[in-house]
Amino acid sequence: MSFTAKIVAAPTQRSHCLIVAVYEGGKLSPSAQAIEDAGGQLKALCKREGFKGKTGQTLLLLNPEGVTAERVLLLGMGKAPVSPADFRKAVDKGLQALKNTASKDLCLCLGEVTVADRDTQWQARQVAELVRGLHYRFTRFKSSPAEPHFAPDKITFGCQENDQIKTAKAGLETGTAVADGVALARELGDLPGNVCTPTYLANEAKKLAKDQAKLSVKVLDEKEMKELKMGALLSVAAGSEEPAKLIVLNYQGAAKSVAPIALVGKGITFDTGGVSLKPGQGMDEMKYDMCGAASVLGTLKTLLELQAKINVVAVIAAAENMPDGRATKPGDIVTSMSGQTIEILNTDAEGRLVLCDALTYSTRFKPKAIIDVATLTGACVIALGTHASGLYSNRDDLADALLEAGEQTHDRAWRMPLWDEYQKQLDSNFADMANIGGREAGSVTAACFLAKFTENFPWAHLDIAGTAWRTGTNKGATGRPVPLLVQYLLNQS
Ligand code: BES
Ligand code: MN
Ligand code: ZN
Repeated sequence: MSFTAKIVAAPTQRSHCLIVAVYEGGKLSPSAQAIEDAGGQLKALCKREGFKGKTGQTLLLLNPEGVTAERVLLLGMGKAPVSPADFRKAVDKGLQALKNTASKDLCLCLGEVTVADRDTQWQARQVAELVRGLHYRFTRFKSSPAEPHFAPDKITFGCQENDQIKTAKAGLETGTAVADGVALARELGDLPGNVCTPTYLANEAKKLAKDQAKLSVKVLDEKEMKELKMGALLSVAAGSEEPAKLIVLNYQGAAKSVAPIALVGKGITFDTGGVSLKPGQGMDEMKYDMCGAASVLGTLKTLLELQAKINVVAVIAAAENMPDGRATKPGDIVTSMSGQTIEILNTDAEGRLVLCDALTYSTRFKPKAIIDVATLTGACVIALGTHASGLYSNRDDLADALLEAGEQTHDRAWRMPLWDEYQKQLDSNFADMANIGGREAGSVTAACFLAKFTENFPWAHLDIAGTAWRTGTNKGATGRPVPLLVQYLLNQS
């Protein structure tokens, strides 16, 4: 698959499909106008077909007059200037409209579209992300060969001016790298729990680091975790035949003296709830309970592809939450690596138990910020649905930087409160804290629990329970929040 950016003369450009913008009310973009001037009769065709140029509306023309390309797709952009969300929506719909065509060679004349508050680099990046995203398919376990699907392999981003070319190329490169990170996160998420175990995740991390000068990996086993007194993390794995792993990756793209940013991922490869067993309905989706870990690995993949000049340390807490004779029971009390004791009132609130020890471990790298990513609570899905990840932070500047990165990539987060008043919901009669805070504000109290382990560091928590995968007929991992995390890290470098 190759991407390029260049000045394009729409009528004479060779391609399987030329994508040109039309604005609401039928105003033609310069490329569409050039085709019109060459005899393409676009205005007449739009009128005949009732094409109005609304955001994402499409009109596919086969062998139209006045162009060398085999097809022209008129793509509605709505009103100018186009909003960033509408630009993405339009490109996405445009690609969907080509699903049943054999277009391998695409030319998108979109450098000429003005997007509000965004530049050519951003536009090219969105195009690359969306086009490359078409290649992702999870067919490993289908016995009959997958039917061919729309996956273009030669993409040209059409520019209008010479000075757009360089920045467009940079955008295409970033977009491709982000899409590859997203694809890795999706693949790991979609893998079933009997394949994607903690050991499997550890091996994936090693695979990622193989032959990479900037990335090293270390995997701690249960014995080493016991020596570190990670009683909370180990209590989650106690009922499973699959040994827990703490996966530590070190990406060094900047000088050694630069403090790293720590990414901490929840890697529960299957969450049955443990002895506090979950109901059967929809339990299969708990294979996605390692999507935080997957997004951390995906982010590292993107950083590697870009050879980003930044230091990142990733800590992944991988375990399987199962009920059995050795499993943790409600009421059990464990001691975390931090020394704080925890009364486990519900074994299904296991994410915070593995994360708290991973967070404590991450502080040994003296990071300038710690960001954990976790499919932590069903309550977050109730609060925010599937559009925004829940964001919690003990520092306003860190929260703002993450919110901004989410806006830039349309992989959005929404800040939630971490007020002291919520903390008392975690009081325990018998230990330093309980692992649940009752029915009210379940996503907040989960974050409050984590906050007790990162008090002396700038820290943020992303609850991705609603954003990491889609349910229903379209079930599948999304790869979020890889775009947000990558953007945040690039903004720091
Ligand atoms: N992995 C789940 C959270 C989850 C549930 C994410 C459903 C997406 C959809 C987590 O380990 C969990 O079970 N949380 C409990 C916490 C409760 C026991 C306090 C929950 O959300 O019900
Ligand atoms: Mn759970
Ligand atoms: Zn869980």
